[in-house]
Amino acid sequence: MPLNARIEAAIDRALARATRATPPARLAAALHHAVKPGGARIRPTIALSVSMACGDDRPTLSDAGAAAIEMIHCASLVHDDMPCFDDADIRRGKPSVHRAFDEPIALLTGDSLIVLGFDILAQAGADDPARALCLTSELARYTGMPHGICAGQGWESEAEIDLATYHRAKTGALFTAATRMGAAAAGQDPEQWTELGARIGEAFQVADDLLDVLQPADVTGKPVGQDAAHDRPSAVAQFGVEGAIRRLEDILSGAIASIPACPGEGMLAEMVRRTAERLTPAHHSTTPAE
Ligand code: IPE
Ligand code: IPE
Ligand code: MG
Ligand code: MG
Repeated sequence: MPLNARIEAAIDRALARATRATPPARLAAALHHAVKPGGARIRPTIALSVSMACGDDRPTLSDAGAAAIEMIHCASLVHDDMPCFDDADIRRGKPSVHRAFDEPIALLTGDSLIVLGFDILAQAGADDPARALCLTSELARYTGMPHGICAGQGWESEAEIDLATYHRAKTGALFTAATRMGAAAAGQDPEQWTELGARIGEAFQVADDLLDVLQPADVTGKPVGQDAAHDRPSAVAQFGVEGAIRRLEDILSGAIASIPACPGEGMLAEMVRRTAERLTPAHHSTTPAE
């Protein structure tokens, strides 16, 4: 089965599990709204690519790891868009969950998706309890405090923010989780996969900061100019557009160099190159959007 189809099938199984029997209908609909159709599914693509590069000898675990990461990501977007965070009206080209439904439903959607992410891993424990336990602890580490997404969002409530620490937790954490969990699902030691995930994550956030100033909302599918509007530190604010683009290119070439030796090393380098092509705004206008 192609990679994309594997990811969607794993996500669909999880959603069906969370909305089975007779759940509260609006909350069930909001879960679907938050997860389907997805965005680029970049994190599960990275996780599954690493699992495959490492041999993918327990496909159930590889699929579970990829789907669990995407559930956490979708949850983080729903909460991030709420009025108490970025107050964003659109996400993935559609009304954000609190706009399409309401704030209580958005809060519960994010909560339910976080729980679902961990439930997916618990279910996979039937196949290989030791690996499922390792995946669970990896996901917790990169979702919560002190270094996960929660910490990243928490930095926005501090008077002083260090850009690198903020980005590493807010965005980098889930990319690091993706490479480490991909390896762990295939029975490999996650330690040597940290750098690749961290580098892709760092590049991704720089690219997202560039997108925020260079592209109109009908291209990004979400509000633009958010970093300046909320006075958030960003790579563009710190280095300027040209400086941020140079930084992005440096980080991506470092990412390819950091791929550990494994049977699928060449395939992974290709995956990073394809990701880099999507992220690098060389073919975009470098003049800020109106
Ligand atoms: C957006 O992530 C949030 C950030 C961490 C910058 P993505 O750009 O991966 O969002 P989707 O899943 O493709 O919509
Ligand atoms: C979102 O960061 C990161 C998380 C959801 C944890 P941003 O607020 O910068 O991302 P967008 O621009 O809304 O996607
Ligand atoms: Mg935000
Ligand atoms: Mg936001």
